[in-house]
Amino acid sequence: MGAAGRPRRSCLAVPGSSPKMLDKAQGLPADQIFLDLEDAVAPLAKPSARKNIVAALNEGDWGTKARVVRVNDLTTRWTYADVIEVVEGAGANLDAVMLPKVQEAAHVQWLDLTLTQIEKSLGLPVGGIGIEAQIENARGLVNVDAIAAASPRVETVIFGPADFMASINMRSLQVGALIPDYGPGDPYHYILMRILMAARMHDLQAIDGPFLQIRDVDAFTEVAKRSAALGFDGKWVLHPGQIDAANAVYAPSQDDYDHAELILDAYEYWTSEAGGKLGAVMLGDEMIDEASRKMALVVSAKGRAAGMTRTSAFTPPVA
Ligand code: GLV
Ligand code: MG
Repeated sequence: MGAAGRPRRSCLAVPGSSPKMLDKAQGLPADQIFLDLEDAVAPLAKPSARKNIVAALNEGDWGTKARVVRVNDLTTRWTYADVIEVVEGAGANLDAVMLPKVQEAAHVQWLDLTLTQIEKSLGLPVGGIGIEAQIENARGLVNVDAIAAASPRVETVIFGPADFMASINMRSLQVGALIPDYGPGDPYHYILMRILMAARMHDLQAIDGPFLQIRDVDAFTEVAKRSAALGFDGKWVLHPGQIDAANAVYAPSQDDYDHAELILDAYEYWTSEAGGKLGAVMLGDEMIDEASRKMALVVSAKGRAAGMTRTSAFTPPVA
């Protein structure tokens, strides 16, 4: 799955322990849902949550949403049973498994091999179920290039800010917020960029993590805009109220989308025989060339994936 593949502007967390939320999530306009077995589910509720998730995947109507299950991380005693029970029970109705707190390539390789075993035993296409790797501590970030490269199943690299802040002793309790003592800087900038580089190096999607003040949609939007500006493809949403904001922030604006499509059409025309085989040309007041086409391709791919339609057209000059 390329960086411009399946839309994942909004990735909705749904606790596997709540049949009510598993039901409600199906009708919400999130690009992706992930049914959680990890930190949103109490240890005593994990076995029944596995069963709820299998039933929701098999019997629910998830439309075009990407269907993902977050299992427990590999330092716990739950991971193998999470993967086996969920994938054996609902592998045909599952797009990817999310592995939290990934620290090294071997974690992803373990999941890859285990999925292959289950796919073979169920007669499913081998490699059909993807992997989402969540980076949540220093060891994971330092090893992120190897993690992104560890299996062709990896589709996304995800930032888990809450666990990450705890793991590096960041002196803040407010996930995603700027820290006044850090002056004008963004304390997450390096981490986000590091994840983005590893993701793009392997043509994967980069996904920003949760924002916990779920009633403050303006603050969510402000935080989301920072990772969207860098190039991130989407962000977790913990509440239905955050979905529209994420879908808007991680899609291009209508003006940018129209402009990108215009650049592509104009460049195609001017570089053609009919347009005079030109390399660098003017589009209004702007000079465009091959690099402009590449930038426009990124914006247009995000707009098309988000289902946008253009509101302007390129008209070649009359000969
Ligand atoms: C998400 O899992 C986080 O720790 O932020
Ligand atoms: Mg976490």
